[in-house]
Amino acid sequence: MNRGNKRGKFITFEGIDGAGKSSHIAGVADLLRAHGLNVVSTREPGGTPLGEKLRELLLHEAMHLETEAMLMFAARREHLAQVIEPAMARGDWVVCDRFSDATYAYQGGGRGLDKQKFAELEQWVHGYLQPDLTFLFDLPPDVASQRIAAQGRELDRFEQERADFHVRVRQAYLERAAAAPQRIQVINADQPLGNIKKLVQESVLMHCL
Ligand code: TYD
Repeated sequence: MNRGNKRGKFITFEGIDGAGKSSHIAGVADLLRAHGLNVVSTREPGGTPLGEKLRELLLHEAMHLETEAMLMFAARREHLAQVIEPAMARGDWVVCDRFSDATYAYQGGGRGLDKQKFAELEQWVHGYLQPDLTFLFDLPPDVASQRIAAQGRELDRFEQERADFHVRVRQAYLERAAAAPQRIQVINADQPLGNIKKLVQESVLMHCL
């Protein structure tokens, strides 16, 4: 795409828990800033004061599964209004740790909720805006859970789910990627960090700059 293009791009990062996307998000933000671009780095659920409160509930409080799905979209609506839309309107770039693909994968694949409902919510909340590019960090759930266990920290509600939940989340992500191959780039996250970094940065340079 054109360097001269005024509109910033919206790049999202997805994957099962333990896929290791965080360090790559920071790397992409640094790369874009090194090209003189204004970058807003944010995350879901969260990214706003209200959204971070919802995140706390979503990650630690038991709730009805549909409540969980709707709170994900509620936090997203706030995030779009307060952070993403103003950033895009300024011409800034937005890099975001998870977005609606995560709802399809976790609440759709993992929890087994009807994905058609998410399509309606998605249309309502951000029918006018989709990520320009999405990285899906993919790896076997058993490798991911070993990584999480090695961190030795307290697990949130999603990380505590059984192995089959994460298998379904991964499957749903891969189905989304197969349905939108132009937007979603699958990255094999079960390889050395340096290789992954190179793949991600090359892709940003090729598709966005
Ligand atoms: P994440 O920030 O990746 O966790 P961490 O802080 O451990 O890196 O994501 C938080 C959790 O929220 C993750 O387990 C996935 C879940 N999630 C959903 O279930 N649905 C959603 O729509 C979103 C955005 C996140």
